[in-house]
Amino acid sequence: MTVDVKTVVELGAGLELRNPILTASGTFGYGLEYEPYLDLSRLGGIVVKGISPLPRAGNRPPRIVETPSGMLNAIGLQNVGVQRFVEEKLPRLRERDTVVVVNVYGYGVEDYVQVAETLEGESGVSALELNLSCPNVKQGGLLIGKSPAAIEEVTRAVRDVTRRPLWVKLTPNVSEIADMARAAVAGGADAISLVNTYVGMVIDVETRRPALSNRIGGLSGPAIRPLAVAAVDQVSRAVEVPLVGIGGIGSARDVVEFLLAGATAVQIGTANYNDPGIAGRVAADLVSWCRDHEVDDVRELTGALEQE
Ligand SMILES: Cc1cc2nc3c(=O)[nH]c(=O)nc-3n(C[C@H](O)[C@H](O)[C@H](O)COP(=O)(O)O)c2cc1C
Repeated sequence: MTVDVKTVVELGAGLELRNPILTASGTFGYGLEYEPYLDLSRLGGIVVKGISPLPRAGNRPPRIVETPSGMLNAIGLQNVGVQRFVEEKLPRLRERDTVVVVNVYGYGVEDYVQVAETLEGESGVSALELNLSCPNVKQGGLLIGKSPAAIEEVTRAVRDVTRRPLWVKLTPNVSEIADMARAAVAGGADAISLVNTYVGMVIDVETRRPALSNRIGGLSGPAIRPLAVAAVDQVSRAVEVPLVGIGGIGSARDVVEFLLAGATAVQIGTANYNDPGIAGRVAADLVSWCRDHEVDDVRELTGALEQE
């Protein structure tokens, strides 16, 4: 007899996903581009590319270089800006049967607040995810995501202007990621997404130049998975809110690893580049994995790591 596996998860502030599989910001466009490859309604949700107040062209090429078991990117947060997102992308996304999370990017508190305020009057956005991995112009370029005080300030400022579920996405390029998560929760975050990319550099030894025009970039893909699992494990012991695990996920087995470490849902990023239909398949494979392991509700897996 086949048991029906329950896949619905709850991500704080009443937001339910039909399953724990989302696609990660910046690796899945605005979702619509991927429709030839998978049915978006098979996913728990999609997270769109980071949206800033004004359009951004991003860095000049080369912006991506392949690395062992991963890739290094310095796209520079190219995006259409919040106005065009609302006018051109959102109306089409609203017609899709999927949860849409908008990743928000800015150079200071005002930028995050402006994007959140613009979206507040629009339907079809299920949650906001703040990408805090960007330089704070007012504080001399220090990454907002590296300062607990700045994380709390930005989160609270957005919390004040939105009723939507609010996720904060953390950079792992810090010494104590749990402190950053605590700051986000103090500021009013409903969930924490982790992790963003790890700072890396590739040098072309023939030209003796950095491979990326930006010199450094963000490492993603299977190479970072153990690092990301460790980050989820640490943060799960520091805060009570749901966690969204991200980093090198490409199979149902990888998803289960993140759930056991304490994640309630996950996002698939770099793997979309190898196989644009992968997220839909991972969602289906997760159900098979649960059946094979006699797990009748995926929620049982969250934080179910055996303790010595
Ligand atoms: C090309 C590229 C663009 C990205 N753009 C964003 C972005 O706009 N906002 C954001 O929060 N994360 C962005 N990320 C980070 C991913 O969402 C994800 O956190 C990271 O790549 C780790 O997951 P993965 O190993 O599955 O790719 C980007 C990653 C890549 C590879």
